[in-house]
Amino acid sequence: MDKATPAGGRESAERVPALNRNDKPFHVVLAQQFDRQAIEELCQLADMIRAIGGSRQGTQFLRTMLSHRRAMLYFIQPSTRTFLSFTAACQVIGMPYNEVRDRSTSSEVKGESEDDTIRVLSQYFDLIIMRHPAEGFAEHVAHMLNEMPRTIPVINGGSGKDQHPTQALLDIYTLLRAFREPFGSSGAETPHGSTPSARAVAPRYTQNPFAGKTIAFVGDLKRGRTVRSLTYLLCRYPGVRLLFVAPPELQIGEDILEYMSHRGIETQLGDDLRAHVGECDGIYMTRLQDEWDVAGESKAIDYDRYSLTRDMAKDFKPNLAILHPLPRRHEVDQSLDSLPHAKYWDQVHNGMWMRAALIASIFNVDVAIRDHYHAYYTF
Ligand code: NCD
Repeated sequence: MDKATPAGGRESAERVPALNRNDKPFHVVLAQQFDRQAIEELCQLADMIRAIGGSRQGTQFLRTMLSHRRAMLYFIQPSTRTFLSFTAACQVIGMPYNEVRDRSTSSEVKGESEDDTIRVLSQYFDLIIMRHPAEGFAEHVAHMLNEMPRTIPVINGGSGKDQHPTQALLDIYTLLRAFREPFGSSGAETPHGSTPSARAVAPRYTQNPFAGKTIAFVGDLKRGRTVRSLTYLLCRYPGVRLLFVAPPELQIGEDILEYMSHRGIETQLGDDLRAHVGECDGIYMTRLQDEWDVAGESKAIDYDRYSLTRDMAKDFKPNLAILHPLPRRHEVDQSLDSLPHAKYWDQVHNGMWMRAALIASIFNVDVAIRDHYHAYYTF
């Protein structure tokens, strides 16, 4: 199979069944695998894990969950956050892991095909978490693993310009928490343990806080895979309005606009952030993805039109949430970091809990975690 299978084209309804088991994500490759219920259950599970993980005893319990399984992090594209977030998530649920981050240290230099390398990995490990520059490669790996006598799950930690579903899960978790919490509070948990309120019943995420809200995506939307994945999750929330603010040559793909229109999601295009700031409830900033340039073609773009500066804060809605998948360059002025609107550090922290929840769910230890939570962490 061609590694670079384009992400668009085939309908996700055809693609999802091969990735799921019992109607639940087994391989995690596409954001379209997650319906509203799956998103809500994962968010609640992530809240439970963070509450349990707030005490020494709870941490010890969590570490027994997957101590009998092993993960391989096959990350052959640069990564700091996603890689470390997955390693931290594995540590939270006690899953030992190994890593390959550089093809030059694998037998691929002896002429082994990448497919064979992955087949070999699947015999040592129980989970492959991968980041790869080729679009569709994680999906190809999922199909390949389905053909192996011992099928293990694969999680897509970023595939080319196409998708980054686990980033989208932590993004929607962050938005749901931001719209749920009294404004300015970043949650009940403290770095050193559970506060009394963290021990209250983990709230359900069954409401739709997105109805009537405008979420703007800003910057390099053509090549930003996090944006593509998050739009698939947001279209599970009827009444949300998506605004895509980008240089015309880096505007969101037609396939996404078509997908949203089929699902009745209102979309609008823009090309100057300043003109739209005041209408936004959420702003998702992105950097210029110039590593995908063929010949430096994006150098001429005036990225100031797609940047947030301190003087724009006067136009912010009181409950605006600003997100950024990071790394950031200059598109979000650092003076905004101290405002309660800035949620990008929360995203980083939330990602670890969300990824722990996702892995727990794939390996069906979510039930044990829920039971433990209800037994010890609710009044
Ligand atoms: C993003 C990615 O790799 O797609 N980063 C991340 O995973 N947090 C965004 C980016 O690189 O700009």
